Amino acid sequence: MTRVFSGIQPTGTPHLGNWMGAISRWAADQQPEHLFCVVDLHAITVPQDPATLREQTLNMAAWLFAAGLDQTVGPIYVQSHVTAHAELGWLLTCSTQYGELGRMTQFKDKSAGKANVGAGLFVYPSLMAADILLYQAEEVPVGDDQVQHLELTRDIAQRFNSRYGEVFTIPKAVLPKAGARIMDLQNVGKKMSKSSETDAGVIWLSDTEKVTEKKIKRAVTDSDGEIRTGEGKEGVTNLLDLFSAMSGRSVDDLVSEYNGQGYGTFKTAIAEATNAYLAPARQRHAELLADKAELTRMLVAGAEEAERRAAPTLAKAKDVLGFIARG
Ligand code: TRP
Repeated sequence: MTRVFSGIQPTGTPHLGNWMGAISRWAADQQPEHLFCVVDLHAITVPQDPATLREQTLNMAAWLFAAGLDQTVGPIYVQSHVTAHAELGWLLTCSTQYGELGRMTQFKDKSAGKANVGAGLFVYPSLMAADILLYQAEEVPVGDDQVQHLELTRDIAQRFNSRYGEVFTIPKAVLPKAGARIMDLQNVGKKMSKSSETDAGVIWLSDTEKVTEKKIKRAVTDSDGEIRTGEGKEGVTNLLDLFSAMSGRSVDDLVSEYNGQGYGTFKTAIAEATNAYLAPARQRHAELLADKAELTRMLVAGAEEAERRAAPTLAKAKDVLGFIARG
């Protein structure tokens, strides 16, 4: 079985694009060798309000469980609960070159024009390398924006192995398979994204059913009134794709049922399908957050399992570096 590591930023609430493209699929394919880690240590590379961080970490964890990820299949946990991440992070920082970190485009983008840039933002990729190498992960599912960090992780692992001995598996990035690509409802040329200019274009899983409906009703279409795909029909095509993903029906089938009925009826049906699709996860999420103590206990169980898996690699890395064993 392939060992896999997924790191998820505690950004609070996922949107429908994240859900369709990643989170809901993780649950469908969950296997014991796949770890899911909410990376709160990474979140503090930029200033965070403590209460917000706490809330967002629990919130993201609750969405993972609401999607159907199961703690008894494989570990789902919070990074700061497993101290081995920070510890190996330091060891690997010392095997990472200043010049390599300076070439990271994410660092350049995030630090550009800022007067006060934390050192954590600069060394972040070596902590990310630790997350992955700690578990001897072979595959790391990431978006395009993380491919450079994965390359650096491989370089760090190779350098460490050749200097001190074979300790780490060399991981590789796996990019998401093409699938339902949900576009921004207001700006159809762009993927639905947390950094969208308009909130109206993004369906958050946390949106109420009313707000979901309103956003779908306001989605950009065109003026010819025809429900079909094709040139100049980008808005309607996006709605058809969304409808198809939410209902499990083919686009052709939806076109033949809805063409001729007008955009109003079409959009009402999509809103209903979307709310029906999201209802079980939304409800489960609310239940999980209603008992934070229990949610935390679930996460701690994942952390204990992750800790057990991390321990041999951390011990080996310390040993080969020349640290004296405690006995
Ligand atoms: N850097 C990743 C992001 O910004 C999050 C992350 C941290 C991660 N550690 C990881 C992703 C390890 C994959 C593996 O999205």
